Amino acid sequence: MRVTDTSDRWWRTAFIYNLNVKSFMDWDDDGVGDLEGLSHRIDYLAALGVTCLWLAPFYTSPNKDNGYDVSDFYGIDDRYGHHGDFVEVVRTAHDRGMRVIVDLVVNHTSDQHPWFRSARSSPDSPHRDFYVWRDEIPADAPANVFPDAEDGVWFWDEKAGAYYEHNFYRHQPDLNFANPEVREEIAKVVGFWLEVGVDGFRVDAVPYLIEPGAADEHEYLRLLRGYISRRKGEAMMLGEVNVPRDEQLSFFGGSDADELSMQFDFIGNQRMYLALARQDPAPLVDAIESRPAITTGSQWANFARNHDELTLDQLSDDERDEVFAAFAPEESQRIHGRGITRRLPPMLDGDPRRIRMVYSLIFTLPGAPVLYYGEEIGMGDNADIPGRSAVRTPMQWSDAENGGSSRAARRRLVAEPPSGAYGPEHVNASAQVKDPDSLFSYVRELAALYRRSPEIGWGDYERLETGDAAVLAHRMSGSTGQTVALHNFAPGPTVAELTLPGADEDWRLVDARSGTTHAVDAKGRVSIRMDGYGAEWFRLIGPDSRRL
Ligand code: GLC
Repeated sequence: MRVTDTSDRWWRTAFIYNLNVKSFMDWDDDGVGDLEGLSHRIDYLAALGVTCLWLAPFYTSPNKDNGYDVSDFYGIDDRYGHHGDFVEVVRTAHDRGMRVIVDLVVNHTSDQHPWFRSARSSPDSPHRDFYVWRDEIPADAPANVFPDAEDGVWFWDEKAGAYYEHNFYRHQPDLNFANPEVREEIAKVVGFWLEVGVDGFRVDAVPYLIEPGAADEHEYLRLLRGYISRRKGEAMMLGEVNVPRDEQLSFFGGSDADELSMQFDFIGNQRMYLALARQDPAPLVDAIESRPAITTGSQWANFARNHDELTLDQLSDDERDEVFAAFAPEESQRIHGRGITRRLPPMLDGDPRRIRMVYSLIFTLPGAPVLYYGEEIGMGDNADIPGRSAVRTPMQWSDAENGGSSRAARRRLVAEPPSGAYGPEHVNASAQVKDPDSLFSYVRELAALYRRSPEIGWGDYERLETGDAAVLAHRMSGSTGQTVALHNFAPGPTVAELTLPGADEDWRLVDARSGTTHAVDAKGRVSIRMDGYGAEWFRLIGPDSRRL
């Protein structure tokens, strides 16, 4: 019996998998993925080792922003099924030991939401103050999040006779969180989905939810977290917070840790791409080492790609240009002057060693890994589809028509799969599941390693000397043991001259995959041969270790 029960912080060691229902699996042959199709694919995710499913917005929506424009927070887009189908997904996932979190998109609503229709209809509407209105555009208006699409954050509404605020698209009016009634309504929404069975939320656009300039800017996040925790002790909030390092801690709730449970490490993500472009891990190392210290209730989410552009907005102009030059040489592969619209494998010219090295980093750097569907099989983007939608093509299940994602006519699909080298005939789950040398099998192995090594999520990070600047070596240690990971950012083979402080000739370094044992000398040194772009993981086993 352990005195410290950590089950209420399950996210510290979660393997999170994000998918959009419409792009995953179509079970009723209408060309649109649905909840029933997803239920049938939960076993695939369980086999991969996923422990938490993150569902992108599946709510009723005009779908002008991939479902991030919600017109009914309680409704489910008819094309995906109904609440019964949703409960089946949650039940099946829970049965396979997987938790389910859902996107909570409450910074704004769709302009088709009944609240907004009512709000714009009259100054006396009970919903008028649900949104943010001005008679004039304020002098200090910030830039819009989507500069390629919108000029600003204030839009003149003829009907209302006033400007409303929209940090995102103009069809996404911002909710007014200073209004206690809005807070109450959102609490009901959150309470509803918790009761339906979800285990937490991926909270969209968090920095826009707080009230900049208010006496207590973070009050709302704290209230929301408190409410969620009271309703369901184990529920978590994973926040989308792309801000500089020195602002991040405040979103966890400072030393009280009473706001977000997790944050995506956007800085680590961006600096990882800079490191890849330079074939030098230094920028990534700086990023990891500049993370603010967090408490045991909080966690970082490590990721390679997501459903949006690969934003590089936290890099300097020169650094961004380096990454653009390496991974998005064509203007058409860029968006908003700050990001890349491609998936990882095409950016890395399909080099399997390099692709694996990136996922090995995602699973071994301190934190919890998050994958976007299709990453586990190396799906590419469809470069013919402009903007962020290039990475939102149907999951490639097999080499059948439409990649096996749907039996509908191709023109009815939500998006066309890519053709050529990344087409379903070359990249699909069915072939990879059976192939022990596939990327799928590699990622499954990473997931198993991560699961066996809770110190990656819980332990202390320490960088190790290797004598080769292109090799990142780090150790994660905790009460569960020690994991050592080596990543070679350069294309050529090398020998890493590793030094392991605290270890001596009574210790041994065991390859986590092959079981090969490397002797450690009296000074804690050991030499490890590495391939170009190689990634290796080891257990460091001391004389007292009881680990297998
Ligand atoms: C977040 C989502 C993005 C969406 C935006 C507006 O940034 O990740 O896809 O467009 O919020 O909701």
